[in-house]
Amino acid sequence: MEDLDGWAQQIIHDASVAESSDTLKAIFVSVLGRRGRIRELLRELGQLPQVQRRVRAAELNSARKRIEQAVVDKLAEIYGGFETISRHIPDQLNTAAIDKLAELYGAHDEPPADVTLPVPFAGEGRIHPISQTIDEIVAIFGEMGFVVAEGPHIEEDFYNFTALNIPPEHPARQEHDTFYLPERPGRHSNRTATLGAADDGSRLVLRTHTSPVQIRTMLAQQPPIRIIVPGRTFRADHDATHSPMFHQVEGLVVDRSIHMGHLKGCLIEFCRAFFGLDELPVRFRPSYFPFTEPSAEVDIGCSRRGGTLEIGAGGDWLEILGSGMVHPKVLQNCGIDPAQYQGFAFGMGIERVAMLKYGIPDLRAFYDSDLRWLRHYGFLPFDIPSLVRGPLTGAGAA
Ligand code: PHE
Repeated sequence: MEDLDGWAQQIIHDASVAESSDTLKAIFVSVLGRRGRIRELLRELGQLPQVQRRVRAAELNSARKRIEQAVVDKLAEIYGGFETISRHIPDQLNTAAIDKLAELYGAHDEPPADVTLPVPFAGEGRIHPISQTIDEIVAIFGEMGFVVAEGPHIEEDFYNFTALNIPPEHPARQEHDTFYLPERPGRHSNRTATLGAADDGSRLVLRTHTSPVQIRTMLAQQPPIRIIVPGRTFRADHDATHSPMFHQVEGLVVDRSIHMGHLKGCLIEFCRAFFGLDELPVRFRPSYFPFTEPSAEVDIGCSRRGGTLEIGAGGDWLEILGSGMVHPKVLQNCGIDPAQYQGFAFGMGIERVAMLKYGIPDLRAFYDSDLRWLRHYGFLPFDIPSLVRGPLTGAGAA
């Protein structure tokens, strides 16, 4: 080969326009590889006279270096910079190093990810209003010294009804109001057809309220008791304001000399803290529950003027929870002496108070898993409720 320089220039140009490491590797193999052109030319040196040999050897060596540099430069360009590839390049380039680079960085044919860069912002998730409302309620009662208790969703008739003094003829016990599970084989049962309840109390139901956790707690521990019980409940109801699955929160306090004043003070305090209104009117209206005596429905003041509901204003009332002094029979059913201990209890629908507080119009949307709805009504993960921080007052209030 006479024009060594021209030939080397051509190879360097080919390398500079190569579009993939495969092409570069092919160039490397055919020129610099063990059977490449340069080696071949070096072998031919022996045929040259001594004087020419040294000059020619120097020329070949220089061409080899320039071509190798051109290949390395192009590899650097393909794989995101010399910094990235240099540690994988040996003193003399070889095919193994080219393959290694392709393996490490070549998969996407684009610069490798720089793991030191900040993570691109992918948007944050939202806390569901049910979860947020539960957290708020727990925070308020937590400040008052209540602890959270839980119970099973699949409950025994005994805990859900019998121990709560709910009589056999009570409507909640009807087959069409409560989800009963098939009777368990082998269990004693001579239930009467209309009642839907095994007379040994073992028939399983999806709990219709959180009140069975009152029973479970009183059976498991002696007073003083101060629990708050958020959880899922189930009734055979389905329309715009009822869902077969919904949430309640139960409260129970049992101690010596607990009286109606404690019940009222505690619930007034709660309503005002929850809605963030210090002057919120709260009314106790006589009511009936089999497991409390006396019983009271709790209403908060509101206005419905002009078709819009405004909490805390006007002369109208809105029912938000049920309450009462724990019935002596219920205490007795749990082995607590009603002559020594008294208690109060309350139960509240979580969806209902969430809808009121955050102006959510349709109950069914709670369970639709529609991300647009969640983005609108949901909460930022950092909106952690506490009395110190102050109650949240608007949907996604942040
Ligand atoms: N368990 C009742 C219901 O679901 C609510 C309640 C709880 C009432 C505790 C009084 C005391 O309607």
